[in-house]
Amino acid sequence: MTDIDWDELRQVATDAMRRAYAPYSQYKVGAAALVDDGRIVAGCNIENASYGVTLCAECALVGDLFMSGGGRLVAFSCVNGDGETIMPCGRCRQLLFEHASPGMLLETVSGVRTIDEVLPDAFGPYDLRHSAAREAAR
Ligand code: THU
Repeated sequence: MTDIDWDELRQVATDAMRRAYAPYSQYKVGAAALVDDGRIVAGCNIENASYGVTLCAECALVGDLFMSGGGRLVAFSCVNGDGETIMPCGRCRQLLFEHASPGMLLETVSGVRTIDEVLPDAFGPYDLRHSAAREAAR
């Protein structure tokens, strides 16, 4: 799947952004991603009076991914309240990495990049399996 319709993804992210609940920061975020079966999933940020409990748009997107059938993320776009492309925060890069297809693409402030470029040498499921296997061999 090489032909990514970035305009469409950005549009879905912008529509999601309009549903954001951001009464504390006033910073609305919408995210959208193409799934490996062709579905598009999306999410918005949902803040909380206990600020640290805030859910980033990517959290809602991953919820949408699972609730609509699962799969792997192929391409991702994220926008702010002005419809500008923004970077996923560090925590959300980790969140996306867990559900990424190999070579997942992200629209970023410096062009289209792979998940490995925005989260190099990521810690992931492999590390846990690797150390469990070592433990079992002892
Ligand atoms: N935010 C996201 O939704 N995703 C990100 O990757 C960056 C930050 C939200 C969280 C909070 O509601 C607002 O942006 C300001 O930090």
